[in-house]
Order: sequence, then C-alpha cells, then structure tokens
Amino acid sequence: MDKEIINWKELLYPYEQAVDELMLKFNYIRKEYLRLGLYSPIESVEGRVKSSASIIEKVSRKGISRCDIEEKIEDIAGIRLICQFVEDIPKVIEIIRQRAGHDLDIVEERDYIANKKESGYRSYHIIIKYGLNTVFGFKEVLAEIQIRTLAMNFWAVTEHELNYKYSGNLPDDLKARLKACAEASFNLDKEMSTIREELMQAEKMTELKSSLVNNILENIQNLYFKLHIEEADNMNRRFIDLYDDGDINKLKDFNEQLNIIAEMYRV
Ligand code: GTP
Ligand code: MG
Repeated sequence: MDKEIINWKELLYPYEQAVDELMLKFNYIRKEYLRLGLYSPIESVEGRVKSSASIIEKVSRKGISRCDIEEKIEDIAGIRLICQFVEDIPKVIEIIRQRAGHDLDIVEERDYIANKKESGYRSYHIIIKYGLNTVFGFKEVLAEIQIRTLAMNFWAVTEHELNYKYSGNLPDDLKARLKACAEASFNLDKEMSTIREELMQAEKMTELKSSLVNNILENIQNLYFKLHIEEADNMNRRFIDLYDDGDINKLKDFNEQLNIIAEMYRV
C-alpha cells in the first residue's frame, strides 16, 4: 500500500456536500408527491459518507491504490431510498433515469433484486456521477444509490450488523438462517403487494378523514374568530358527535354544510 498521508477532511468534504444535496433532492420528490396528495414511491431517504476506516478497509481488501480512491470507490457517498412496496422500485429507478443528463449521470446499474447475491442480499443499485459547485470550482464525484423495500432494508441492516460482529466470517448455520430470512422477507414483500390495493384504500381513507377534520376545525375556529360564537358552539358539538359516530360520509356532508356557512359569513 502506498504510504503517503491522506488528507481525509479534504477528500471527504465534497462527498458530504453530495450526500446533503442528494438527500434534499430525493426528500423533495417525496414532499412533492405528498403535497399533490399522491402516494410517494419513496418512503424515506437515508444517506451517509463512508468513514475513513471503511475506506481504508476497502482499499486494502480490493488492492486499490490510494490515489485511485475517488475513481475506484463508488460508494463514498451513499444514498438509500426505501420503498414501501416492491412495485415502487421501478418507479424510483425511472425517476432517477429521467434525471440523467440533467443533474446527474448514470455510470452503472446493478440489479440485485432480479439477481440476488449469494448472501441473500436484494437491492437495486445505481452508481451515479454527481456534479458539485465548490469554492474551487466544478467537481464530479461518484455516489451509490441503493433502492430497496423496507423488508429488504431490515434484512440488509441486520445482516450487515451480524457480519460486523463476526468480522465478515459468519458461521455457516447463521449464513443459512440469514438466507432463509432473506427468502421470508422476499415473500413478505410479495404478499404485501397482493394486499396493496386494500392498504392503499385504507391509507386514502385515513388521509381523507384527516383532511376533512382539518377543514372542519378550521371553519369552526373561523366562526369563533368572526364572533358567531353560538353557531360555532353548535357546530363544534355536532362535529364531536359525528366524529364519535365515525361515519366518513356524514363527516363529508357536514364539511360541505360548514363550507357553505363559512362562505356566507365571509366578508
Ligand atoms: P462492497 O461490497 O462495498 O465491497 O462493494 P462491491 O464493489 O462488491 O459492490 P456491491 O455492489 O457488491 O456492494 C455495494 C454495497 O451493497 C455494499 O457496500 C453494501 O452496502 C451492499 N451490499 C452488497 N452485498 C451485500 C450483502 O451481502 N449484505 C449486505 N448487508 N449488504 C450488501
Ligand atoms: Mg460487495
């Protein structure tokens, strides 16, 4: 291994910026879906910069020259996009492909879902080149985006921790049990997909109810503010009864009535 000292702060700083920017961008995709009242294929976004210790470990494991770190280690900047359902993964891949040539370039895609790894690992990886504007000018860095379901993530995080504990030498029986867990979680994903429609409907109902309740409470509060105290009190009592009753259609009708009243009092 080469002997020169690496200035880690200098080396890692652009990757930190890349992770921050990419996380912000992917979080905004999620936010945009939610703002439009749509289901987001991205459930959550995680990110990290690889530690100097992990980089050193990888450099010596793979026989990479230290001056090739930035070129050969693709996951110094790592982003993880977690999806609720397997069907969300192709949508997320498409979102990233659409951005190619705009704010990122795709270097490589690795489909460990169609081709799971020997360990049982499943995820979809996209290696990108990401451009940064720094005080020293424009700089491109590599980043690895891992796209996986909640179940795949649960497995991968657990397996990673166990591997760490056993310094990468998992006993055979544990390996076999982990493989079985990987299959179980894959089946869970499949099963979840089959009940997705019902889940989505339940989710929609919850969202509808919460937006109705928000609207109703806002209207009642406005009545108070505009000093229609008696009417506001009356509406508040009716709302509490309807809420306890739990019938969403009655809540809808009541909301309509309140909208009309609110309109009447608007000056
Ligand atoms: P490293 O595995 O990082 O040495 O890189 P590689 O060049 O072999 O690339 P690969 O696509 O195999 O893995 C990249 C990343 O995917 C790893 O850093 C892990 O985060 C993840 N990964 C790959 N295989 C496994 C696995 O068997 N278990 C877990 N938990 N994660 C894995
Ligand atoms: Mg590997």
